[in-house]
Amino acid sequence: MNVRIEQARPVQEKPLGDESVDRNFIGQLVREFYRRVRLDARLGPIFAREIEGDWEPHLEKMTEFWCSVILKTGNYHGRPVPAHTKLADVTEDDFQIWLGIFRETTRDLCAPEVSRVFNERAELIARSLQYAMFFRLPAA
Ligand code: HEM
Repeated sequence: MNVRIEQARPVQEKPLGDESVDRNFIGQLVREFYRRVRLDARLGPIFAREIEGDWEPHLEKMTEFWCSVILKTGNYHGRPVPAHTKLADVTEDDFQIWLGIFRETTRDLCAPEVSRVFNERAELIARSLQYAMFFRLPAA
């Protein structure tokens, strides 16, 4: 039988269905998350180095990304894996810091059920990125 990958995923696949979670809310969540990331002693300098000058394009891109993930809008067309595999100094511990800040931000801004859905998706995507970054075969 031809099972689509989407059907095998263990997490929420439909749009969230909570009307308070719209593009505007996601934009605020993204902005608050990156405000905290930029203050972090370890992640702040990495982002400052990679995103020079105007943060707005990154914040808009991340808003589209999270709208696609949570609201299924499909307007994000970027490539997350190469954006991260090029970050040679980023470690698995850094992903734990990233996820910790993300969980704190959703806890502070979202209803518990909404927070749970965002965190679940972030953890899943973080796992795929880490797989791509740390468990790939060395180049021949
Ligand atoms: C320690 C962990 C992480 C670090 C240091 C990091 C850093 C970065 C940086 C510097 C960029 C900008 C790259 C560029 O524009 O050239 C970026 C882009 C991005 N990040 Fe992360 N990231 C981390 C984890 C995550 C996680 C867990 C997610 C998703 C849940 C995520 C999603 C994205 C997405 C969607 C982009 C945009 C990629 C594109 O389309 O260009 N990141 N990240």
